[in-house]
Amino acid sequence: RTLEIAAIPADGIGHDVVGAGREVVDALAAASGGRFSVNWTEYDWGSDYYAKHGVMMPADGREQVADKDAIFFGAVGWPTVPDHVSLWGLRLALCQGFDQWANIRPVQFLPGITSPLRAADEKDLDWIVVRENSEGEYSGFGGRNFAGRPDHQEFSVQSAVFSEYGSERIIRFAFELAMTRPRRKLSKVTKSNAQQHGMVLWDDVFDRVAADYPEVTTESVLVDAMAAKFVLKPGDLDVVVASNLHADVLSDLGSALAGSLGLASSANLNPERRFPSMFEPVHGSAPDIAGKGIANPLGAIGSAALMLEHLGLPEEAAAIHRAIEETTRRGVLTPDVGGTATTADVTRAVIDHLALV
Ligand code: NAI
Ligand code: MG
Repeated sequence: RTLEIAAIPADGIGHDVVGAGREVVDALAAASGGRFSVNWTEYDWGSDYYAKHGVMMPADGREQVADKDAIFFGAVGWPTVPDHVSLWGLRLALCQGFDQWANIRPVQFLPGITSPLRAADEKDLDWIVVRENSEGEYSGFGGRNFAGRPDHQEFSVQSAVFSEYGSERIIRFAFELAMTRPRRKLSKVTKSNAQQHGMVLWDDVFDRVAADYPEVTTESVLVDAMAAKFVLKPGDLDVVVASNLHADVLSDLGSALAGSLGLASSANLNPERRFPSMFEPVHGSAPDIAGKGIANPLGAIGSAALMLEHLGLPEEAAAIHRAIEETTRRGVLTPDVGGTATTADVTRAVIDHLALV
């Protein structure tokens, strides 16, 4: 079977890490004895494309990739384009345009990588942050205006939209995910003390859905307290469900606590499979290390594993996860996690440790 995959490296280290992920998937396909192969189509969309065409991707960009099995994405953002233009013009245009409403962000604690968390708790740590990925604080509603301001000072409105439909589908998704895990624990993040409309609806929907999952242990934690809990009581967490903004922040915190932003993987899923899902590392384009060949590719390689799992190849996905663990256990580490290896060294080590059982 041949997978049709769109590769969109976009900007900065997106190029390094998408290349690394592709090499690992190609090596796995070559070793799969014909179980699968991959036909990659690469798109040059991003900030360089913007410099030439004034847009991050062509007007029919979504149509061009709509029939692919999946999208493998790098990162957007470069100092030549305002960040909100590059993000909305490409990454959010794909995510929201393809209704990839469930963003799954596993936080993995890997052998051989020192986590700033207390060692005592580390052995049990395995978190998944489930992020609402279609509305909330990133719904895009709002504007800037001078209306009614005699002093000609601008004001702006940035509205957060929490629909019952949007909240229910992500909360139900998180409960289903918690049911597949040994601890069956789901933590809900909220800020319903201060945000008395949207977040209270979120709380109400959660309580209603929870009644369908009596086997799942739940807790409700305010987002500020949750940030502290990530650091102070890490052993207490399993699946964490949060709004678009809250989960965005918490998943960066989670990956930093696991050792580096460069380790974190993510899947932007359209669970109904009406549209392609998109797989990408959590990190951005890292202009500070772009072009140096030292970006940590493990977040992107882990995202490639999530992609294969989504496309019905769970054994291949597990082989990648094991190869990642073997690579870090043996100390083949990029500088962000205390090593001296290059992107290419780490990619080579992962490929060397791929072994299907
Ligand atoms: P960033 O994630 O690009 O970098 C933050 C820090 O982490 C930097 O010091 C960077 O060197 C380091 N880092 C990130 N990934 C790494 C990796 N794989 N290996 C080693 N070190 C790594 O976030 P920043 O600096 O806030 O944003 C840079 C640009 O990326 C901006 O234009 C921003 O808008 C964009 N961005 C895009 C995202 C996306 O496409 N999903 C997500 C976050 C930011
Ligand atoms: Mg983020």
